[in-house]
Amino acid sequence: MAASFDVIVIGAGPGGYVCAIRAAQLGMKVACVEKRATLGGTCLNIGCIPSKALLQSSENFAAAAHDFAAHGVMIEGVKLDLARMQARKAEVVSANVKGVEFLFRKNKVTWLKGEGKVAAPGRVAVGDTVYETKHIVIATGSESMPLRGVEVDEKRIVTSTGALELGTVPGHLVVIGGGVIGLELGSVWARLGAKVTVVEFLDTILPTMDREVSRGFERILAKQGFTFRLGTKVTSAKADDKGVDLTLEPAAGGKAETLRADVVLLAIGRRPYTAGLGLEAAGVALDERGRVKTDAHWATSVPGIYAIGDVIAGPMLAHKAEEEGVALAERLAGQAGHVNYEAIPGVVYTWPEVASVGRTEEQLKAEGVAYTVGKFPFTANGRARAMGDTDGFVKLLADKKTDRLLGAHIVGPDAGTILAELVTAIEFGASAEDVARTCHAHPSLSEAIKEAALAVGGRALHM
Ligand code: FAD
Ligand code: NAI
Repeated sequence: MAASFDVIVIGAGPGGYVCAIRAAQLGMKVACVEKRATLGGTCLNIGCIPSKALLQSSENFAAAAHDFAAHGVMIEGVKLDLARMQARKAEVVSANVKGVEFLFRKNKVTWLKGEGKVAAPGRVAVGDTVYETKHIVIATGSESMPLRGVEVDEKRIVTSTGALELGTVPGHLVVIGGGVIGLELGSVWARLGAKVTVVEFLDTILPTMDREVSRGFERILAKQGFTFRLGTKVTSAKADDKGVDLTLEPAAGGKAETLRADVVLLAIGRRPYTAGLGLEAAGVALDERGRVKTDAHWATSVPGIYAIGDVIAGPMLAHKAEEEGVALAERLAGQAGHVNYEAIPGVVYTWPEVASVGRTEEQLKAEGVAYTVGKFPFTANGRARAMGDTDGFVKLLADKKTDRLLGAHIVGPDAGTILAELVTAIEFGASAEDVARTCHAHPSLSEAIKEAALAVGGRALHM
């Protein structure tokens, strides 16, 4: 038998690596198994970080090419060096994944390189070596969801992974799925010059967001040049040397049509990744969607085996995985780790950004909760006007009786950053009036939040 540990975490994404670090901080002997050549999981290698690097670079390019002139900054002959942009993205990723390696060394977390498998409760096999451990944490994340009739080759028909690596700007990019990946990566390539068509099965983009927000955002993206084919499904995609022929059909049934694309991005969701883990043999139960079933404290059906992050239920977000990693490590150390699932923010890093926390109006209606709404547009915010970024609005939802803040939704410049005060407000059980009476710096984008909070009580000042 090889070395033994208190905790072995399988998977070094934001859930797994954070869980490993926190457990080590709390005095446990910890190992983390990762089969990828670098730490950081989907998020740091092929997800959050490379996508945000390209979003930032493409935003800079589009601003220099189209927006600076309005500020009196005249630049002629703005050119794209895509190879340099991609190289910068790789540098950003490399710095981040090396950072996790440094943190493992600092906290004395052992990286077991290779594919981990649950050999039995209390035993993890990595290749031919079996390690003993008191606790096993499954944090193996997720993978792109396939679609029948659409075969991914990561060149012409790509997932997000291939879409982050394109070496030329496609003339026409067709995105299947109007969710977060489709809109973020669609934005990258649209800003760099591609015509982008989004084919979405439902009658709205971002279907889990507040409807008013997703409708407003759809109009903003359409103004930026996006074409939306809502209520439409793709039934086949045939790639040749030069492009892809797609067959589209109305979701409700009807006449098929064809659409030609240079590149197709398949982004219809992600599914939990449990292949090769030996979960069935170990008796670990999965739910109807293939996710590892856990109780409220991340325990699976087998004592001593836990699971966190994308591989279990809940939003597939890096910060949700991290919160679970920390809380689970604390529980394993005998503390009272806890995650408030009512206060998990979601941000779409397009421009403008879309950010939300808590309940949507549709959810409150379905739950029969009486609520009040306060809204404020960025057109009436001095800072947004000075920036030349007036698209979007803040929408707050508060309990009609108690004024407690139940949901916050923002489309607008830096929405993801300014949302943070509302996440804190919801975490602390604040009322709309608490936010309205808080002094906000002038001129700042967050004054739009204060005004929306005032609007909940019907007393916005600048509208
Ligand atoms: P993962 O990050 O998927 O990590 C799991 C790790 O486990 C992987 O490294 C994998 O190699 C390893 N592994 C799997 N099986 C084994 C095994 N048997 N043995 C050893 N290792 C194994 N979320 C956000 O919050 N913000 C964003 O901006 C954002 N952008 C994204 C952009 C894209 C393009 C994508 C695809 C995702 C994005 N996400 C974002 C989602 C985010 O990446 C995930 O929610 C997050 O990575 C989940 O973390 P995790 O630790 O559960 O799993
Ligand atoms: P998604 O769930 O966000 O969106 C998928 C979309 O595809 C939905 O609108 C859905 O209705 C649609 N769809 C499903 N089947 C379809 C079909 N057959 N034809 C056409 N449309 C179809 O999934 P996405 O965009 O793939 O992203 C996966 C996950 O990754 C996200 O849910 C999110 O958790 C995470 N992510 C988070 C980011 C962030 O936080 N900024 C960025 C990127 C990804």
